[in-house]
Amino acid sequence: MESSPPTAVRSTSPAPPAPAVGFAGLGRMGLPLAQRLLQSGIPVVVYNRTQSKAESLVPAGARWAASPRDLAKAIGKGVTFLMLTDGKAVRGVLFGRGGLARAAAEGALVVDLSTIDPEESRANAARLRERGVHYIDAPVGGSVDAATRGELTLFVGGEASDVGRVRPLLERVGRRIDHMGPVGAGTSSKLVNNLLTVGITALSSEALTLADAFHLDRPQILEVLQAGGGRSGMLESKSPSFLARQYPAQFTTVLARKDLRLIERAASREGRVLKMTREARKLYDEAIAQGHADEDFASVLEVALSRGRTGTPKPLPGPATPSSGPPEDGGPAPN
Ligand SMILES: NC(=O)c1ccc[n+]([C@@H]2O[C@H](COP(=O)([O-])OP(=O)(O)OC[C@H]3O[C@@H](n4cnc5c(N)ncnc54)[C@H](OP(=O)(O)O)[C@@H]3O)[C@@H](O)[C@H]2O)c1
Repeated sequence: MESSPPTAVRSTSPAPPAPAVGFAGLGRMGLPLAQRLLQSGIPVVVYNRTQSKAESLVPAGARWAASPRDLAKAIGKGVTFLMLTDGKAVRGVLFGRGGLARAAAEGALVVDLSTIDPEESRANAARLRERGVHYIDAPVGGSVDAATRGELTLFVGGEASDVGRVRPLLERVGRRIDHMGPVGAGTSSKLVNNLLTVGITALSSEALTLADAFHLDRPQILEVLQAGGGRSGMLESKSPSFLARQYPAQFTTVLARKDLRLIERAASREGRVLKMTREARKLYDEAIAQGHADEDFASVLEVALSRGRTGTPKPLPGPATPSSGPPEDGGPAPN
């Protein structure tokens, strides 16, 4: 009797479950990111200082950890993301009472998505390394909408092996992942990025103030500007707020000012003076003083418009002809 040809053995056992990842910080950005990880089938253990913000995640399958230490214990040698306000919050979650560092297993990896000072990124990495814990900085470009859609840009700093290890997870939340160099290169790149995004928004608000002074139609000028050399992603994304003069927060004014302060501090450490950044920061200082701290940072438009209104109009010296106008080299204007 002929024996039948051997058939390929098919395993019927299911694929092993993906290891759980940790997520600390469920604010405007952290919540949609944790949601995305859950939606892509990754078990997530979450911690947030204010527990109520995790409520929508638990029915979606997330496990709650009562402290960063409990989170570290649950994750073992795995990966934990941080998405926190600033350097102080990151330090507290990592090294404060009930912090993550003491309980973290050797070989665990912390991915800090927060925008903080590059020096703080390097200090955090060094302190964690003493415990055998790895750290990369991976702050993000893009706001809440991009986080929800998994279309963030990630500026990554760290050891290539750590970046390689976490890349499949980063791909769940980011459209573009750029490894910029060692630890601190991610946060450095993010500060360069935000000098532009936050600065352009301040400058856009002054441009619209000038447009108002010229009695131009705001919807029309916003549209035509996007066809010219002054077009920008920020002008486009902030146009609805600029038109409605309503500022529901995606990225708050107080966080924008935080980033400009970080930029000024880091630049001064490197012996650089960024005068336009300083002027932009003053605009955000005023916005916060006028009560716009927790609104979107597009609220600087209100400051720029109010500055315009309080200025005393100067009488024009005469027809703006080359003979009668002020000289272009900045010399004394004719009387
Ligand atoms: N929003 C954006 O469009 C955007 C875009 C790119 C980058 N970023 C950066 O991403 C980070 C998060 O921004 P976000 O807009 O998500 O801010 P957010 O909504 O204010 O959330 C901040 C998170 O940090 C937590 N936190 C603050 N202080 C803490 C402390 N001392 N201890 C423990 N947890 C603390 C908050 O906990 P509670 O819930 O208890 O307050 C919350 O989970 C910031 O570094 C920001 O610059 C934001």
